[in-house]
Amino acid sequence: MRVNSRLTATLAGVAILGLGLSACGGDSDDTGSADGSGGGDASEVEVFTWWAAGSEKAGLDALVSVFNEQHPDTEFVNGAVAGGAGSAAKDLLQSRLQTNDPPDTFQAHAGAELQDYIDAGQVEDVSDLYDEFGLTDAFPQDLIDRLTVDGKIYSIPSNIHRANVVWANPTVLEDAGLDPAATYDSMDDWFTALDAVKDSGKTALSVATTWTQVNLLETVLLSDLGAEGYSGLWDGSTDWTGDDVTGALEDFEKLMSYTNTDRDGLDWPDATQQIIDGQAGFNVMGDWAEAAFEEAGKTAPADYVYFPVPGTDGTFDFLADSFTLPVGAPHPGGAKAWLETVGSPEGQAAFNKAKGSIPANTNADTSDFSDYQQTAIESFGSDTIVSSLAHGAAVPVATLNAVSDATSKFTTGASDLATYQSELASAVSGS
Ligand code: GAL
Repeated sequence: MRVNSRLTATLAGVAILGLGLSACGGDSDDTGSADGSGGGDASEVEVFTWWAAGSEKAGLDALVSVFNEQHPDTEFVNGAVAGGAGSAAKDLLQSRLQTNDPPDTFQAHAGAELQDYIDAGQVEDVSDLYDEFGLTDAFPQDLIDRLTVDGKIYSIPSNIHRANVVWANPTVLEDAGLDPAATYDSMDDWFTALDAVKDSGKTALSVATTWTQVNLLETVLLSDLGAEGYSGLWDGSTDWTGDDVTGALEDFEKLMSYTNTDRDGLDWPDATQQIIDGQAGFNVMGDWAEAAFEEAGKTAPADYVYFPVPGTDGTFDFLADSFTLPVGAPHPGGAKAWLETVGSPEGQAAFNKAKGSIPANTNADTSDFSDYQQTAIESFGSDTIVSSLAHGAAVPVATLNAVSDATSKFTTGASDLATYQSELASAVSGS
């Protein structure tokens, strides 16, 4: 994996936004800075994530086992809150932070989401830990740029995920008369295949609750607008009210017509399970789904196949998780120990192998990673990189919440397409 200079270019808008807002960032020297000079209470560490079950918990468990080897005297306390993409965790975290009850460390997406916490003065500068742990040159510079404000780095990244992947059941496709090895160049090509699966009596496209629909939406926008047009949605250079966005929303509406009707009561593992069980043909999901297939004992390409969302080949829809040291963490020494394991090549190899993602630390050994993960490593090194909407890279949490509300209204029939488009335009321009 090599540093991808295009990441810097495409994400520059977010970085500039962050720099402009950074003046109110907190610098609380009195709350147990993890600068190596004192460390603070290391008896335990409460780790707040949304990796509460299934393959996500398996990923966390893999990281915890390296942590227990590296830091046997610090007790790991699991503060995970269920709900994919942090759909429940982020609200709870915010109320804990606002009532001065922070966990010792929490999961935050690199980019605009982390920026929120920095701007609110809720996370400490951990730049010194990069030197202390020997991490300064371990991560792609572009990723570090997304964790940095005014020269200070505010978290340690654990992984890099790709959000624009289709997962499919080859038997369902064959039964519908399709070639399971086929890929599709555009949404229109894909609609023909979706029709075939629908006609065969199966769900053509499985999806789950609102955030997974937003994940689907972002990939349709990416497909129809292209990487540049899509990135322009976040820096103001693409007009949200334009005809090309209308066309993408029409495609999104059409895609939603192929989906399972029980979708709003499901989370992402349920939609992936429909592919595993042969109830559905296709699913769009970030590559944490790879870990769910593996955990279910499935092998590609016999049991499942994957390819970039039609029309997005050559583009890597990027997101990264990272871990923070919250201001006022009760066990800063424990947090520091956790951050050391998160950043280490051993921690990254164990965690990412189990999580379906690729290591952020370029020194991690990926030789035994799955075939899918090898494709992700290669794509990250050569593709155009764009920021995920649904996973905190492109927009702040408040904007994502407004996009999610508008999407839920639209997909439950409470608004029409014109209203949806104008609500999306206001959601993003308000950010
Ligand atoms: C993302 C997160 C991933 C994965 C996914 C589904 O936001 O970055 O690590 O957990 O949600 O919950």
